[in-house]
Amino acid sequence: MTGTKLIMTFPVTATSHLLSEYRARGGYATLERVLRTMRPEEVTKEVAASGILGHGGAAFPAGRKWGVIKLNDGQPHFLCANADEGEPGTFKDRWILENAPHLLLESMLISSYALQVRNAFVYIRGEFDLPYRRLAAAVEEAYAAGLFGERILGTDFSCDIVIYRGAGSYVCGEASALITSIEGKKGYPRNRPPRLTVRGLYQQPTVINNVETLSNVAAIVNLGGEGFRKIGTAKSPGTQLVSISGHIERPGVYEVEYGYPLAKFIYEDCGGALGGGKVKCIVPGGISTKVLTAAEIEPVTYDHASLSAAGSGVGSGGMVVIAEGTCMVRLLQVLLRFYHHESCGQCTPCREGMGWMHRIIDRIVAGEGKMDDIDQLIRISKANDGTTICGMGDAAGYATLGIIAKYRDEFEYFIEHKRSRLGGRLEVVTGSPTDAASGARPPGGASHSWGGPANDLVGGRP
Ligand SMILES: Cc1cc2nc3c(=O)[nH]c(=O)nc-3n(C[C@H](O)[C@H](O)[C@H](O)COP(=O)(O)O)c2cc1C
Ligand code: SF4
Repeated sequence: MTGTKLIMTFPVTATSHLLSEYRARGGYATLERVLRTMRPEEVTKEVAASGILGHGGAAFPAGRKWGVIKLNDGQPHFLCANADEGEPGTFKDRWILENAPHLLLESMLISSYALQVRNAFVYIRGEFDLPYRRLAAAVEEAYAAGLFGERILGTDFSCDIVIYRGAGSYVCGEASALITSIEGKKGYPRNRPPRLTVRGLYQQPTVINNVETLSNVAAIVNLGGEGFRKIGTAKSPGTQLVSISGHIERPGVYEVEYGYPLAKFIYEDCGGALGGGKVKCIVPGGISTKVLTAAEIEPVTYDHASLSAAGSGVGSGGMVVIAEGTCMVRLLQVLLRFYHHESCGQCTPCREGMGWMHRIIDRIVAGEGKMDDIDQLIRISKANDGTTICGMGDAAGYATLGIIAKYRDEFEYFIEHKRSRLGGRLEVVTGSPTDAASGARPPGGASHSWGGPANDLVGGRP
């Protein structure tokens, strides 16, 4: 329905994540072929030729990152799969960890062979339970089958893997913070240079890729770099796992070929806004990407160039749909509370700026805002841009600037009338259109919320 599939190529059942079933689908045959017939640099060449962009949020070309690793330099190299998946609205790596853990492991083995890695890591977010258990069980199965450890499949290649569980910090998904966390220190991002591919984990050359980026490596080797490039668009080869949630009729994880019409995806494949309502806007790629209004969605195709031309991005593939009737002031309050809570506090603009922004939006929602608060939020967002160690300072600013630019009237109304024009509503209530419009909850009607306090408890003063 949403184009070619590279990852979601099999029906999910209660046992489809097991090694026996993965092997029955041809799993680990690519690893065997690579180890017996390809040299490490040939694998890297195919990854570079594929043009695959990182799926963790920054869309950095994986081939360029891998190309920095010098083979036979006498140093240990490390590979880390980033399974932190902390960006709100994003839960697509979770699909791989739960349903295709062996695809990730096979791809990591191929990648480790290409990069001369003896020890690989998966950094997995602390809150993940089933994904962790599935991955840990898959690692055990793989060791028992001789797919990790010494002389894998009777070749000269040896590789071990460690799963490292995080402790629930958003910033530990940032690559340099992830490394310091694995080293047992506080998960603080650090300045570059040196790049992590030059001096990373334990001061050694390290490649960090997102779970989905790495999981594509088996397909890249199978199809060849040029074959992979034929899928998707010229500038965005391949597919993207998109997790879609919020006020949407059919939430879930979908594999979307780059170049697919965005409106078709939202309205046809995912059924449009919840309960037959209207889409107000979407967050296309995790809350750090700018919102797109319903009108802006229309001409966009789901790929980096088209989303960027529309003023947003693919980000981490976490799409959130926001229905008409949602209060954007309250929505921004939820986002700023998150950023403030997650700032690691190293950089003054982020540490102080997040606190200021959070306090300003709280003040507006409490009905005590001043008109200048809107411009103050804009000024702080702009001051953060490019002045912090990691991308989080910028991200909170993008989210704020995007929402204010498109929904400034809602902020002005809130400040002037000391209450939300939309009842401070974050939930969509399904039921009769009359019930939904009045905001009343029909008996037995379902509702879907962004989280935060219940609607009737918020929304400024009556
Ligand atoms: C605050 C912050 C949080 C991040 N969280 C994640 C994450 O949970 N998962 C992820 O893959 N990348 C995350 N990233 C991006 C990583 O720093 C890095 O770019 C990515 O893991 C590289 O993989 P890729 O090139 O395959 O995308 C985050 C970045 C920042 C600034
Ligand atoms: S931008 Fe924020 S989260 Fe990132 S290093 Fe600085 S203080 Fe920490």
